Amino acid sequence: MKVEKNAIILAHYYQTGDIQDIADFVGDSLALSQKAASNNADVILFAGVKFMAETAKILAPEKKVLLPDINAGCSLADSCKAGDFEGFIKDNQGRTIVSYVNTNAEIKALSDIICTSSNAIQIVESLPRYEKIIFAPDRNLGNYVLNKTGRDMVIWNGACHVHEEFSLEAIIKLKKENPDAKIIVHPECELPIRMVADYIGSTSSLLQFTMKDNGKCYIVATEAGIIHQMKKENPGKTYIPAPPRDSTCGCSECSFMKLITMEKIFNCLKNEKPEIIIDMDVLLKAQKPIRRMMEISEKLGL
Ligand code: 13P
Ligand code: SF4
Repeated sequence: MKVEKNAIILAHYYQTGDIQDIADFVGDSLALSQKAASNNADVILFAGVKFMAETAKILAPEKKVLLPDINAGCSLADSCKAGDFEGFIKDNQGRTIVSYVNTNAEIKALSDIICTSSNAIQIVESLPRYEKIIFAPDRNLGNYVLNKTGRDMVIWNGACHVHEEFSLEAIIKLKKENPDAKIIVHPECELPIRMVADYIGSTSSLLQFTMKDNGKCYIVATEAGIIHQMKKENPGKTYIPAPPRDSTCGCSECSFMKLITMEKIFNCLKNEKPEIIIDMDVLLKAQKPIRRMMEISEKLGL
């Protein structure tokens, strides 16, 4: 069907291993946006969440973009609604609006520039020093960027339910049991978790770290799906998922990402729905800040 329909399957690292293995391309949100913007397919099937599929549609409006389960949202993106955000912008007038890619299309349309966790520091650094900034919607990534850049930033009070669930106590206990393990952390995690990290980075950056580093064991504080690629790249190393506060909830897995299954992918490609449709006015407005991010990332070789 993929060949018949000239379709490409893009998958995020948080998808289950079987989906990552049948995808044409697996990556973090920056790499997936770059791939969506530059491929010859007529159809993009996005194995990920809605904001990622929307970003693909915004960058390639002439293509049909499919999302196997339209309910695959994102608690972080949904913590920032357009009406509330407009009020926040009014209260903080004169600031440049930097929005994380984990936002709905309407928020992107209100923004000056987009960033991902791979390039957030460089995007903020690319703005003139005198520019004051609004950063939305992730308070943890925002505080991380603020600490790194020292810029004048007001930060939207949103967070990801997966990355805020990791337990500092359980991570320290694991470290005591595995003293050689390195703690690697996504910047969406809370400050105490970031403070005990040996390395902080986006999903692809964490993967790269485990590939280049000479350690043998890692405590991984991000969604556990990434461990599939880590094991594929370096099967001889040990990867321990950082435990959540409630050990019975399984919340180091993103329930939205895990709504996508092989069966839904098959049916979605067959029926060519659910399809991502974005109001053209919103799409065109959202294109500008995403393209601005892509140009800066390209210039910096990110
Ligand atoms: P990455 O940009 O690191 O792929 O992260 C996306 C995401 O949703 C993190 O929760
Ligand atoms: Fe959104 Fe968190 Fe899931 Fe990433 S892990 S897609 S930020 S809910």
